Amino acid sequence: MEQGLPDETTPEAAAPARTRDWHPASDWHPASDWHPTSWRTRPAAQQTPWPDLAAHAAVLEELARQPPLVFAGEARRLTRALGQVAAGKAFLLQAGDCAESFDDFSADGIRDKLKVILQMAVVLTYGSGVPVVKVGRIAGQFAKPRSAATELVGDVELPVFRGHIVNDDVPIASARVPDPSRMLRAYHQSASTLNLLRAFTKGGFADLSQVHSWNLEFLATSAEGRRFEAIAEEIDRALRFMNACGVDLSTDSPIHQVDLFTSHEALLLDYEEALTRRDSLTGDWYDCSAHLVWIGERTRQIDGAHVEFATGIGNPVEVKLGPAATPDEAIALCQRLNPARVPGRLTFVSRMGVDRVRTALPPLVRAVSLAGHPVAWVCDPMHGNTFASESGRKTRHFDHVLGEIQGFFAVHQAEGTWPGGVHIELTGDDVTECLGGIGGIVEEQLPLRYTTACDPRLNARQSIDLAFRVAELLRS
Ligand code: PEP
Ligand code: CO
Repeated sequence: MEQGLPDETTPEAAAPARTRDWHPASDWHPASDWHPTSWRTRPAAQQTPWPDLAAHAAVLEELARQPPLVFAGEARRLTRALGQVAAGKAFLLQAGDCAESFDDFSADGIRDKLKVILQMAVVLTYGSGVPVVKVGRIAGQFAKPRSAATELVGDVELPVFRGHIVNDDVPIASARVPDPSRMLRAYHQSASTLNLLRAFTKGGFADLSQVHSWNLEFLATSAEGRRFEAIAEEIDRALRFMNACGVDLSTDSPIHQVDLFTSHEALLLDYEEALTRRDSLTGDWYDCSAHLVWIGERTRQIDGAHVEFATGIGNPVEVKLGPAATPDEAIALCQRLNPARVPGRLTFVSRMGVDRVRTALPPLVRAVSLAGHPVAWVCDPMHGNTFASESGRKTRHFDHVLGEIQGFFAVHQAEGTWPGGVHIELTGDDVTECLGGIGGIVEEQLPLRYTTACDPRLNARQSIDLAFRVAELLRS
């Protein structure tokens, strides 16, 4: 057997353990006949109808000449970290916007999102003692899958908004025409976002001695802010204590720097193809648009273009699984996307909805465990819990988000598997897009600061509150 994992038919494989010693990630070698263009022979869902094909081709050529955004070695490091998640030894925090925006783009916005992610990671690590792998839905999360090609605005039918990498969200027909030059703009915005994130995470801002400064001003006086401050104070004391004991912390880089990896949905395959490059070290292909890419619920067809594209890249890959996913589909995805059973290569993101997680998830987890596939399981408690508020705005309720995570933990507890992480849509801004939470956002408050380019996000208070609840679940 590959990787020394148990045979699929042995009783050993039928007894999943909470922590498992999967073998460390080896290099990923795709099938030798795979090429970044292979997906073009398969049916591709959710692709953009570009009206100007010559302009589109010119943009792709220009994109292919741009430097990679991330390096293959970084993607391999993330695969190893996710291998720890698959083995029950680490927890994944993946978070960021539903859709990044060309309009709402600023250094402060990026910094505040990073602050919330760092705060959540501290709460989770401190509260549970489990290492936290941090991945942003950031620096490339622009393209959106849509349920319908058009939408009704008043009584006018318009082409749907597909993310700023394709068209504009303004509800007028001319704004909705797909414009390929937006792909270049998305690339450049991703590059500047990543540049700032690298500076923040490696240049002192993410140093654990700065833990107090991550508390956002508007948060500091709230209950969650004060709860965070108490942890920050304890961390300070621990650092002072170790210093006083003569432990030299000055050279210990995990205290001074943070690894924040980037991710987005690999939806626009021509964009992803243009940024796929051969790694000079291993000769393998990597999608250098992000460290990790995922395949969404609407594009995970086993013979479809998105799965075909993902089979050949060396990056770690996620697949979203909604309530209609079957055990056979899950196993087929494991076999196609991770035939060598490299731990960390494949993560399943369950997005069932609070009402269905306890019934829809167990058969999938059980089938994957029985087959001995080293999958990390992560909970997206957002996309199965969206509903229209009375005023017609898309929203989510904090209690449903938390409820789905609780269900996800209960399923893994019952199955003897590891609840490997959470995948959250959030922002550092003080928005009013999701209902509930300690601050108790109510229906009437939704219009106050509803600024998302797509789905409703948790605000900073709701996010920190959620991190405390998840830490409690992890502890127990
Ligand atoms: C998303 O993550 O923004 C998304 C569209 O998710 P899903 O594919 O799970 O619906
Ligand atoms: Co979304």
